[in-house]
Amino acid sequence: MKILVVGSGGREHAIVTSIAKSPKVDKIYCAPGNAGIADLAELVPLKAMDFEGLAAFAEEQKIDLTVIGMDDPLVGGIVDVFEAKGLKVFGPRKNAAILEGSKAFSKDLMKKYNIPSAAYEVMHSPEEAKAYLEKATFPIVLKADGLALGKGVLICNTLEEALDGVQELMVDKKFGDSGNQIVIEEFMTGREVSVLSFVDGKTIRIMTSAQDHKRAGDGDTGLNTGGMGTFSPSPFYTKEVDEFCKKYIYQKTVDAMAAEGRPFCGIIFFGLMLTGNGPKVLEYNARFGDPEAQVVLPRMKNDIVDVMEACVNGTLDQVELEFEDNAAVCVVLASDGYPSSYEKGIPIYGCETFKDKDGYYCFHAGTARNEEGVLVTNGGRVLGITAKGNDLKEARANAYAATEWVTFANKYLRHDIGKAIDEA
Ligand code: AMP
Ligand code: GLY
Repeated sequence: MKILVVGSGGREHAIVTSIAKSPKVDKIYCAPGNAGIADLAELVPLKAMDFEGLAAFAEEQKIDLTVIGMDDPLVGGIVDVFEAKGLKVFGPRKNAAILEGSKAFSKDLMKKYNIPSAAYEVMHSPEEAKAYLEKATFPIVLKADGLALGKGVLICNTLEEALDGVQELMVDKKFGDSGNQIVIEEFMTGREVSVLSFVDGKTIRIMTSAQDHKRAGDGDTGLNTGGMGTFSPSPFYTKEVDEFCKKYIYQKTVDAMAAEGRPFCGIIFFGLMLTGNGPKVLEYNARFGDPEAQVVLPRMKNDIVDVMEACVNGTLDQVELEFEDNAAVCVVLASDGYPSSYEKGIPIYGCETFKDKDGYYCFHAGTARNEEGVLVTNGGRVLGITAKGNDLKEARANAYAATEWVTFANKYLRHDIGKAIDEA
């Protein structure tokens, strides 16, 4: 088979790494990819939002399956463009990717189908939002309706902060049209868990759990980022939690989408909070998490291509997912200054150390080759260093040891990824 993967981050490197293990696969292309993905796939210089260009490439090269890694093209309708040309593609159509693309949509869906989530209201204008906030209790959460690189969520402790937030999202339009509407939501407390799943429109298969670390600094301080590190499984995702979510959240979400005439095919990522009143959905994503994929996929025993084909063909009920009985930790090596401002183009040394090390992975996110062919930094999140271990503590020790193998002048990392393991 010939496979095309669309995306360029650590998540896509993890996806390509899993696809490369499949005996069915002869050739992998990745658009646009990065310097690490280039070791496993031929890079195609097309942007993820160039739907027509990508579909034309898939037609010309007779690609058997295209896998969309990123949210923007999914929400923009890339799957519909491929399907209209009769091309096989893994990911939700536009009318289903809205599960991630609009928080107002997903909150209304959860309310209509009684799926546990925070109480909320949708605000359509700054005036409406301000009037609502005057009577609200704090803390309270403001969310831009649309995609905002994971940064459109504001937790406000006071009325003043919330009014500033409305100004930022709805008036100054910091995230563009994403702030045309906002969701104002009840503030919840509890541990967060990420659960990824494969879905074929009707059937859902849950992957092993993971936990992300979204803030830039140690001790969960500093700005929100795309994710600074992950571990899998989450020790807080107990059998009871799993049973609750299977009964009240997972299948109900898939059935709700089907009932709305929006059958979901692809990955549903459930961002859950384990509150005192049981697990609740914080958010849905319509793709693998980044860096959740970097700890979940290395532990998956199935041939990922078989599972993706089953989703596309509607035969997921015939698949059982299997995961290794071990653990994995991913520590992101970022450019100092991320997520605000940082330098790029800095030489990276040591990635070759991973080549012959079983259970260790150096997933590339923001990397490139410069004109001399030297591996250099090319983004905020540069590498995701993943290691497995027999248990979480061993995996964490292994991952942190491996972070020392790689150097670049402005390397920045959190030192407390997986600290929560000690409290389990
Ligand atoms: P989201 O993009 O909706 O997952 O939100 C990003 C982060 O904001 C989450 O991972 C939580 O840490 C936090 N968050 C979102 N919604 C709430 C809420 N209702 N209560 C408390 N924290 C929240
Ligand atoms: N790591 C969180 C996300 O991918 O949205």
